[in-house]
Amino acid sequence: MKLILLGAPGAGKGTQAAFICKQFGIPQISTGDMLRAAVKAGTPLGLQAKAVMDAGQLVSDDIIIGLVKERIAEPDCAQGFLFDGFPRTIPQADAMKAAGVKLDYVLEIDVPFEAIIERMSGRRSHPASGRTYHVKFNPPKVPGKDDLTGEPLVQRDDDREETVQKRLQVYSDQTRPLVDYYRDWASADPANAPRYRAINGLGSVDEITARALEALSH
Ligand code: AP5
Ligand code: ZN
Repeated sequence: MKLILLGAPGAGKGTQAAFICKQFGIPQISTGDMLRAAVKAGTPLGLQAKAVMDAGQLVSDDIIIGLVKERIAEPDCAQGFLFDGFPRTIPQADAMKAAGVKLDYVLEIDVPFEAIIERMSGRRSHPASGRTYHVKFNPPKVPGKDDLTGEPLVQRDDDREETVQKRLQVYSDQTRPLVDYYRDWASADPANAPRYRAINGLGSVDEITARALEALSH
């Protein structure tokens, strides 16, 4: 199974990716998590990416495409993978097409922007694993601590309200066009294009997982 999870910042891609990856036994490839790991490690890429991410802008296509191509060449990706937060621009999508990466599905999680602001302001994450919680909608067992390791949870630097607004604008301008890109491709060339599925992302985490797994069953 090879699929793309598409959706606005805060739509619940990371949250649902965990369940979908478990169900299909595939790795989650989150370009956001990869960049945050580089920032934490202080690599040259991390130093460059930090300012771009904090401003709510996108890291350059060349860097991202290079990272993803290297990642999908690793042995654990041979049976499939889930892209979370990638592709995010038309050039990134074109690069996968040109590289002959054959995807089974594009799954869009649709959440109105009003709901997203509330989701992002209450988000807490465990940086080492990428596990994500919400103070109200998906709380950890012990407040402020990761369920599995007990380590402290943090708020992401790019979840400040001004940055969230910028990220939503960048999504509308640069990523939303991928909805038509994949829908049009699926109708023009169904034998080669990934199947396009869109689900309503409003509801409980469990309800959305059920919708996602149903959408990926046909
Ligand atoms: P990235 O990490 O990909 O962030 P994003 O796409 O903006 O998405 P988020 O991680 O914010 O949201 P999510 O959809 O995963 O939602 P989550 O499950 O956490 O990218 C960060 C930055 O890196 C970018 O801005 C860019 O600078 C750079 N970057 C990354 N990829 C790039 C690329 N390909 N090209 C260029 N630059 C790139 O859920 C959000 C919150 O809601 C959580 O608190 C969660 O608990 C809660 N929640 C989840 N589901 C529900 C529900 N059903 N009901 C209520 N609350 C819920
Ligand atoms: Zn995420």
